Amino acid sequence: KTVGIVGCPFRGGQLRAGVDQGPIYLVQAGLAEQIEDLGWKVKFDGHHLFEGVERELALSRDEDVHGIVKNPKLVSRVCQAVSKSVEEHAKKGELPLTLGGDHSLAVGTVSGIFSAYPDACLIWCDAHADINTVESTESGNMHGMPVSFLLGIGSKLPMFDWLRPVLKPERMVYIGLRDVDKAEKTILKDHGIKAFSMHEVDKYGIGKVVEMALDHVNPQRNLPIHLSFDVDALDPSVAPSTGTPVRGGLTFREGHYICEAICETGLLVGLDIMEVNPSLPNIHDKMSVEQTVAIGCSLTRASLGRNTLSCSGSR
Ligand code: ARG
Ligand code: MN
Ligand code: MN
Ligand code: MN
Repeated sequence: KTVGIVGCPFRGGQLRAGVDQGPIYLVQAGLAEQIEDLGWKVKFDGHHLFEGVERELALSRDEDVHGIVKNPKLVSRVCQAVSKSVEEHAKKGELPLTLGGDHSLAVGTVSGIFSAYPDACLIWCDAHADINTVESTESGNMHGMPVSFLLGIGSKLPMFDWLRPVLKPERMVYIGLRDVDKAEKTILKDHGIKAFSMHEVDKYGIGKVVEMALDHVNPQRNLPIHLSFDVDALDPSVAPSTGTPVRGGLTFREGHYICEAICETGLLVGLDIMEVNPSLPNIHDKMSVEQTVAIGCSLTRASLGRNTLSCSGSR
């Protein structure tokens, strides 16, 4: 069993500086060694370098906007590279672990996983639904849009012609939502997408919520699972260093429980740890950064079998 680390120092899906340093901090904190200590082989040949793409686009001097949408060419090129890399790792039987970077990268990770495992399902842990379309986005930030691109809803941007809508609404589920835009609520409803918000976490408890989430996307417990974890799903008191914190989030244990329970299924085939921003809440707050980076590492360990030998995965 092998983990392939896909380090993605990328921030083009949003405006705040620093989130591109997330993967660098996670690896510097010893994440690869920690995964090895769990009994995995780890492949990591350095972070992806996206500067080439950025420089080339800067030189072309065309403004990279489509209406209100910011950096669509950049995000597209980067996600295409990430998709290819994730797909390659997965097709070799390795588990791709993508370290973000902002959550627009999930266009790449999820499309890569679904190319390798067309019957996969997606569990999206986040304070946000990230399902705005080109039409509905108010911010124009693409980290608020990856799910709509993967589902193929809303109008298609020409630069994303490489992307096939790999995801079906019934093959995904959300956990942790608490800041969903009005238009996003309509989209979730129109497409019948299952979501367990913080309200349901309070009402049923995290154990029941994860069980219900798995019952929805994976009733026979036989389909491969991709987990896309935005650290802002956690409460800002637990994971403060992130670009769009929202209070009232998952506790330390609730976040880890989700990862452990998915690990226990033995079905995890892909994992994203996204939106760690070591420049936030401010450059002087080293404690917050250390805490958030440590949690990124520990969510990863929990997903890869920290707690029991039996949940080290069957693949
Ligand atoms: N819904 C807001 C938007 O469309 C916030 C999205 C935040 N996404 C994230 N990956 N942190 O911009
Ligand atoms: Mn690689
Ligand atoms: Mn989020
Ligand atoms: Mn997100």
